[in-house]
Order: sequence, then structure tokens, then C-alpha cells
Amino acid sequence: MRTVYVNGAFVPETEAKVSVFDRGFLFADAVYEVTCILDGKLVDFDGHMARLRRSLDELKMASPATDEELLAAHRKLAEVNNVKEGLIYLQVSRGEADRDFLFPPEGTAPTLVMFTQEKSLLAGPSVDKGLKVMTADDIRWRRCDIKTVQLLYASLLKNEAKANGVDDVWMVLDGMVTEGSSNNAYIVTQEGNIVTRPISNDILAGITRASLMRCAEEHQIKIEERSFTVEEAKAAKEAFTTSATGMVVPVVEIDGVALGDGKPGQVAKRLREIFIQFSREKAI
Ligand code: PDD
Repeated sequence: MRTVYVNGAFVPETEAKVSVFDRGFLFADAVYEVTCILDGKLVDFDGHMARLRRSLDELKMASPATDEELLAAHRKLAEVNNVKEGLIYLQVSRGEADRDFLFPPEGTAPTLVMFTQEKSLLAGPSVDKGLKVMTADDIRWRRCDIKTVQLLYASLLKNEAKANGVDDVWMVLDGMVTEGSSNNAYIVTQEGNIVTRPISNDILAGITRASLMRCAEEHQIKIEERSFTVEEAKAAKEAFTTSATGMVVPVVEIDGVALGDGKPGQVAKRLREIFIQFSREKAI
């Protein structure tokens, strides 16, 4: 049985409790982070904590712990659960209060929950075969830069993808691809240019994205930040996504149109390789 973390305590998952009055439960008034564990170490921990701070600030939510405390809790959780490859999920809500649209009184303690999930990150069918994606309108609220737990639309889309026999969905706003349901989206044009949408309120500033940018720069590989259309994506040589749990995953089909020869592309494969090496070296 897993040990999970709730408000400072490490407890068996069956004994962990959060109030039915928790604002995360009632209003999705909560933010989260997913940090991956490779070789028992945390990948991009500082980046995830920096984004957590930003999400908390944007929503005027109190911080539940210092970065040092959060690092110690992450490490302990990975250790007691003996997770060498997988992820740690962290969620902070505005805490417990009588149901009211107005925020609870100043000083209400935030709820902090963390748990581990074992997951194979290095190998898997999506990496070998590549993902088939479909597109759908991006009807999310326009603060997608804040990592809130309002994931219902993403969940609906993933289920729609499954029902359509594909793996994921790329969302589209005003004809331009924003991002995947839970990842950032990239194309490689026929000229070989790697393109991804610039950071704005319309997408989540992926920590993997930022890390891949640094890694690519070290290898003198250029990633261009500009929006691209669905048509441009379908005409691309290759495509891929990034996220903490997928790292770099090739995309081989968009709306039924095969990209290149319909197999994972060379650029995506190479970026995945160098990214894994880069992440391993920097994991703490
Ligand atoms: N999702 N865009 C969205 C909408 C996401 O939900 C995610 C991450 C990303 C990639 O961000 P990062 O590289 O920091 O993981 C982009 C996580 C993995 C999830 O919800 O499980």
C-alpha cells in the first residue's frame, strides 16, 4: 500500500483524509504540479516549484510550505514508496471552509496533498509507435497558464480521443494549435524547423518545454517560438509533444493524416534521447 502525504503527515493511502468542504473539491480552487522521478531522483524540481509559486500567486493562494520542506517531502515520499521511475503529484487547495464563492477568511490553512504513482517513463508503446492525435476547439478559460485542477475538458477530450481510436487531442484556438490536452505541442516543418507556440495565457508554460529549450540550445538545435495552424501541422514532416510524464513523445498522425512515413521522426527521437540524458544529469 502506498504512503501518501497530507498536510505534513505521511500516512497509508487508506487513512488519508481531506474534508468534503475542501475548496479543491467544491470549486476546483486548487493548483497542482507533476514532477517525474527518474533513477529515484526528481527531474526539474526547481522549475516545478517555481511554477507552483507562480500559480499560487496568480490565484492569491497561501503557500503551504517552503521549497526546502517540499523537496524533503518529495524525497521522502519517493523513498518510502520505493519509486525509481514514475511521478509525484502535488496539490494545494485554498483549504477547508463553508461553501461560499467568496474566499475563506485570511489565515485559512491551505490543504497540501502529495502522492507517488509508478509509471514507466523510458519505454512504452507511445514512444515506439508515436501518437495519433485529433484536433478539437480549445474552449478552456483563458488562464491556461495557471496549473489549476480544472481538468474536466482535458479529461473529456482524452475520452473522445479514445472513442475515436486515437491517443490524444491537440486543441485549436482561432485556427492555431494551442497545446495537447496535457502536453505542449511541436511540429517539424518540411524545411526542418522545430516550431512551438510562444508562452502566453493560452497555454501552460511546460517545465519540460523550458528544459528542452535549454537542452536544444546546448546542442545548437534551434526551436522557433511561433503559433502554427492545423493545416501547417498536417503538412509537417514530424511532430511531437512534451510533458513531465511523457518527456518527448513523437506524434505520427493528425486528424487521420499521416506525417512523413507515419513513423516516429528522427528529430523527435533525437530530442527525446538528448532530453533524457540531460534530465538524468540534472535530476536531484
Ligand atoms: N500535464 N500543457 C498542459 C495543459 C498540461 O497539463 C501539461 C502537463 C503540460 C506540460 O507541462 P510540463 O512539461 O510541466 O509537464 C502542458 C501534467 C503532466 C499532467 O497534468 O499530468
